[in-house]
Amino acid sequence: MADRIVAANWKMNKLKREVDIFMDQFCKILRDLNYDNLEIVISPPYLYLERVISYRDINSCNFYLGAQDVSSFRGFGAYTGEISSKQLKDVGCKYVIVGHSERRQLLNEDESTVRAKIVSALEAELVPIVCVGETGEERKNGETEKVVSVQLDSVISVAKSNGYNSLVVAYEPVWAIGTGVTPTCEEIEKVHLFIKELLKDALGKEFPVLYGGSVKPENSGSLIEIANVDGFLVGGASLSVKSFIDIVNSVARR
Ligand code: 13P
Repeated sequence: MADRIVAANWKMNKLKREVDIFMDQFCKILRDLNYDNLEIVISPPYLYLERVISYRDINSCNFYLGAQDVSSFRGFGAYTGEISSKQLKDVGCKYVIVGHSERRQLLNEDESTVRAKIVSALEAELVPIVCVGETGEERKNGETEKVVSVQLDSVISVAKSNGYNSLVVAYEPVWAIGTGVTPTCEEIEKVHLFIKELLKDALGKEFPVLYGGSVKPENSGSLIEIANVDGFLVGGASLSVKSFIDIVNSVARR
């Protein structure tokens, strides 16, 4: 895995035609660029995973495929509507986003579900991008580290009991997602250091920690300068080729 990662999370956006327009332009730009030690990840809705990956194969454009979620059920079976980690691997995914705050909040995913999803991802040799982060209320109450450490306990317990090849953590303060507001550089630096140290103490190894929440071309250059920020998980600004490529470029320049 590269030292830096920029991952697009398209969430529930785009139709086939828009996927094609994006991928077409994106691959034309990407083919001419040479990024050293940087992985670019596109995470479309499940329906378009194969469509997106087909561009990599046809255009030899250098990105990785990510899924936005995975079933907590392992293997295969009678789980209507679910998608298994093995199926994600089968269509070419390398990464899978797990525990995104939208799923924790809107779909009531709890820590035990998040743990089951990490287990399932690791079993299929997918790299989980585990999202952690506090709500605005929790930050006001000074509970950021407490909340994040509970969420990281899931990562640590699964990694200890199941083993792992690679793992990525994304720090996404809930109040910064889609709001245009970000924490200060000092605040991000503090939480990223906290996450790195907690994981290192528990697992004896360093893991990449991405920042997510209102990352855009206007702030990505300064955000990537922050110590222990190893890249980004980008929502809204990943929907346009221009803004996503601008963000990728600012990370590549560091
Ligand atoms: P925005 O970049 O739209 O704030 O979303 C961040 C996010 O949730 C990425 O997973």
